[in-house]
Amino acid sequence: MNKCIDINCLFKVQYGLYIVSSTLDNKLNGQIATTVMQITNCPIKFSICLSKNTLTHEMISKSKVFAASVLSQNAPMAFIGKFGFKSGRELDKYKNTKFEQNITGCPLTLDYSLAVLEGKVSQTLDLNTHTIFVGDLLSAKRIATGTAMTYEYYYTVIKGKSPENAPTYVK
Ligand SMILES: Cc1cc2nc3c(=O)[nH]c(=O)nc-3n(C[C@H](O)[C@H](O)[C@H](O)COP(=O)(O)O)c2cc1C
Repeated sequence: MNKCIDINCLFKVQYGLYIVSSTLDNKLNGQIATTVMQITNCPIKFSICLSKNTLTHEMISKSKVFAASVLSQNAPMAFIGKFGFKSGRELDKYKNTKFEQNITGCPLTLDYSLAVLEGKVSQTLDLNTHTIFVGDLLSAKRIATGTAMTYEYYYTVIKGKSPENAPTYVK
């Protein structure tokens, strides 16, 4: 690591915790991501950054649609673990997870969710290990009131970790 980089400074950047999901050939899948943000206002575009290793990345690359669910602070580690440390290549993550579908067919995750968004991919940026997908927002719906989970809360209070695919992973 470059000695000019104090990695702790990156913990001062605030992120939320989201479930990013997609659908392809009637299969549904989703994963935890910190990298969801609104990037333009008119029209509204939002972006995500996913590792090329994940099944969700593979599905979004092909289907060109994705959704994001804003997780509440009360999401338990077992739930985060299912979406953030396991792959849909091994299990059906939506088997015991509440969801609904709207315009894109992506699963809009309802468990521990404050709001759900979905969109259609308009641009991509290849970052070698990861891809940034930019989406045009097609629907946004409030699910519950509450406080959104931040990465800082997950890391300092829940004592959660990040796996290697996550940009927040530290060796
Ligand atoms: C706190 C946390 C943050 C994460 N952030 C991201 C992220 O921003 N991008 C990413 O590609 N993976 C991220 N991950 C890792 C994926 O959620 C993980 O690799 C998942 O198992 C992929 O599932 P899939 O193969 O079913 O798509 C994160 C995981 C955790 C626990």
